[in-house]
Amino acid sequence: MDAVVFSAGTDGLRSDDLLGFFVGWPNPPSPDERLEIVRSADEVVVCTTADGLVVGFATAITDRRFAAYIPLVEVLPGHQGRGIGGQMVTALLERLRSCYMIDLVCDDDVVPFYERLGGTRLNAVA
Ligand SMILES: CC(C)(COP(=O)(O)OP(=O)(O)OC[C@H]1O[C@@H](n2cnc3c(N)ncnc32)[C@H](O)[C@@H]1OP(=O)(O)O)[C@@H](O)C(=O)NCCC(=O)NCCS
Repeated sequence: MDAVVFSAGTDGLRSDDLLGFFVGWPNPPSPDERLEIVRSADEVVVCTTADGLVVGFATAITDRRFAAYIPLVEVLPGHQGRGIGGQMVTALLERLRSCYMIDLVCDDDVVPFYERLGGTRLNAVA
């Protein structure tokens, strides 16, 4: 795998960097909306290759004390299955370690990915 760097925050992130994500979404946000969504998050982890390609990002909304919600974990399709998603979630969880509860909602097929990172399948109402 190409060398990648994990960083916190959105310094230098541009809307064009987020073009290849949100694959398969019925109504994906526009590139400018994507940037606004990521910049508005309380915690962000971005994964970038040595030549500056953004290959993944993960966000959290949190009060930093009690609750956190992880709305977005996205890896570029061509870079999936190389450990990037797992490392981004691990970095995000470390930044949220003061929280009592950290939740996310995902499709059934992704549950094992989060269980391997310590998650537990519970019930949710959406
Ligand atoms: C889910 C996602 C973030 C995982 O990132 P990743 O970099 O591919 O994950 P890792 O390489 O750290 O881990 C890969 C493991 O996760 C599991 N996994 C990931 N996505 C999966 C999926 N859609 N279905 C089944 N298993 C999946 C696999 O077991 C895989 O293990 P393997 O490599 O032995 O097959 C990434 O696939 C992605 O961006 N998917 C599209 C967006 C999405 O579904 N995000 C989650 C929303 S909550």
